[in-house]
Amino acid sequence: MRIDVITLFPDFIAQSAGIGVVGRSQERELLTVKAWNPRDYATGNYRRVDERPFGGGPGMLMLNEPLTACLEAIRGDSEIPAKLIYLSPQGQPLTQAKAKELASAERLILMCGRYEGVDERFIERNVDEEISIGDYVLSGGELAAAVIIDAVGRLQDGALGHADSAAQDSFEDGLLDCPHYTRSEAWGTEGVPPVLLSGDHAAIAKWRRQQSLGRTWLRRPELLAGRPLNKADAALLVEFQAEHLKKVKKP
Ligand code: ADE
Repeated sequence: MRIDVITLFPDFIAQSAGIGVVGRSQERELLTVKAWNPRDYATGNYRRVDERPFGGGPGMLMLNEPLTACLEAIRGDSEIPAKLIYLSPQGQPLTQAKAKELASAERLILMCGRYEGVDERFIERNVDEEISIGDYVLSGGELAAAVIIDAVGRLQDGALGHADSAAQDSFEDGLLDCPHYTRSEAWGTEGVPPVLLSGDHAAIAKWRRQQSLGRTWLRRPELLAGRPLNKADAALLVEFQAEHLKKVKKP
């Protein structure tokens, strides 16, 4: 997969995409991340990339011409078609399902806004999708782009060491992840749920499923709301809820 990023801070994108799982994916050529700076496509002595908005008011917008020239250069650099995604708080929220959908594309272009944002006409003409990483305002799209690159990069085939470790992630099944415990010698086994020491793989799988369901119910009940549970899951959750109530009722 290839991800092109339009950003006034290309070093940030190169560095954040150069570490950990995503960095390794790039080394293994499962993923290529390339940052493009609109300033390189700006004209004039000052290479301006910002402009005042019509209607006045505080703040500047990104200038259309360097953005357009930068996008043309990106499109011309490869024949692989790519959606242009603009990172903004006005976008659709990023979810694991969305990350999976994006991860299946051969190529994406991410555009990071700075200042007060981008001319609406540029968005209408060029942008295929707007995505937000949450209901808060960042000072630019770079952190959001780094989040998407990470979420999408780790889903590339062969990116994760353990073949099924993506399948066990939080949200993979619409549920939160279960708790995990290290085999730390210094910490021993105290506080570790006994079932994890039992060697009984079926019992362990059942406990993990129950913890996932229970944690989702406790911490993010809205994730369970429109989601019918099968009989086995419903029984596990009822048992978790009963245990939980016993614990909280204890004086
Ligand atoms: N740019 C500024 N805030 C953002 C957000 N919450 N998500 C994506 N891009 C942004």
